[in-house]
Amino acid sequence: MSIETKVFGVTKNGETVHSYTLTGKNGFAVTLIDFGATVKNIIAPDRKGELADVVCGYDRLSDYEDADGYQGAVVGRFGNRIGKGRFTLEGKDYTLYCNDNTNHLHGGRVGFSHRVWQTEIRESGDADRVIFSLVSPDGDEGYPGTLRVTVEYCLADGCELVISYRATTDKTTVLNLTNHTYFNLAGFDSGDVLEHMLYLDADRFVETDAELIPTGRVLPVLDTPMDFRTTKPIGRDFDLTYEPLKLAGGYDHCMVFTDTLHDPIKSPRAIVTEPKSGRTLTMYTSLPCVQFYSANFMSNPDFPFKGGYTQKKQHAFCLETENMPDSMNHEGFTDCVLKAGEEFTSVTVYRFGN
Ligand code: BGC
Repeated sequence: MSIETKVFGVTKNGETVHSYTLTGKNGFAVTLIDFGATVKNIIAPDRKGELADVVCGYDRLSDYEDADGYQGAVVGRFGNRIGKGRFTLEGKDYTLYCNDNTNHLHGGRVGFSHRVWQTEIRESGDADRVIFSLVSPDGDEGYPGTLRVTVEYCLADGCELVISYRATTDKTTVLNLTNHTYFNLAGFDSGDVLEHMLYLDADRFVETDAELIPTGRVLPVLDTPMDFRTTKPIGRDFDLTYEPLKLAGGYDHCMVFTDTLHDPIKSPRAIVTEPKSGRTLTMYTSLPCVQFYSANFMSNPDFPFKGGYTQKKQHAFCLETENMPDSMNHEGFTDCVLKAGEEFTSVTVYRFGN
């Protein structure tokens, strides 16, 4: 195992951005950049040992700065949407910057995905780590409290990316930290993901309106295209006459895991298999939900991916582990509040196989 550091580029503000490549076994390797604490490449072997890059992303730093897909980044303070960018906390009203129609998305104008994080590298025999940290000041993007965040990426077991999030605040605040990697297990440049087989341990999903803001209802997946509790191709029930899929242009929903008394380390919440290459992705998490997104908005011709590959919708999928979007505005939604003196922690594991 080893970590290789290189200069990746310089931001428009003159900050130098580095890349960090962690190498595991059988050619498995992960490249991270400190801009957005972003996953830039994941090289994974198929069943014949052939390697492919299974995540979307760009060759140029300026594309990470300018494009709007949040490719591979850590999003925050709040992943996904907050309706009208408004919420009330401890009797006080807050208004956030609205960067998605009239709503707040993925942390606002300059969210965590668009900042250069501090980096610490820890190399050890069997588990190399890159630890990114940042301090988000009180009032940042309209959020209360000084938030100190660390995101640790650990390459464990030679083929497993373990992402551990920690945050503390000096004043009550809200947060929803996630990673926004777009996966395609056949290789990011190999077409759509509709034939990928998906198992999702989720028995409910958060209903959203035409602006993808939660209505407040959490619906059962039973007898709907949202049910992935029995493994099926992502595209099998891709039926855009079904209202929730029609409104989102495909899958773009907060899927709620089946129970809360679950051991995140022992049983996976998602398993994805790409039949031709045999590559698999097994996901474990301590969080209660995942945003399953079939990249329906991934179609900006101005921002080709690595090697010049034109981005197209449904050519990747995201599994963004999370609390419920807009949760502070709905009774009974998962808890996104963090108080002074508490520590937020969560862990998500992406394990690759073939
Ligand atoms: C959201 C999508 C959004 C995408 C890129 C996903 O997390 O659910 O609606 O288009 O991020 O911003």
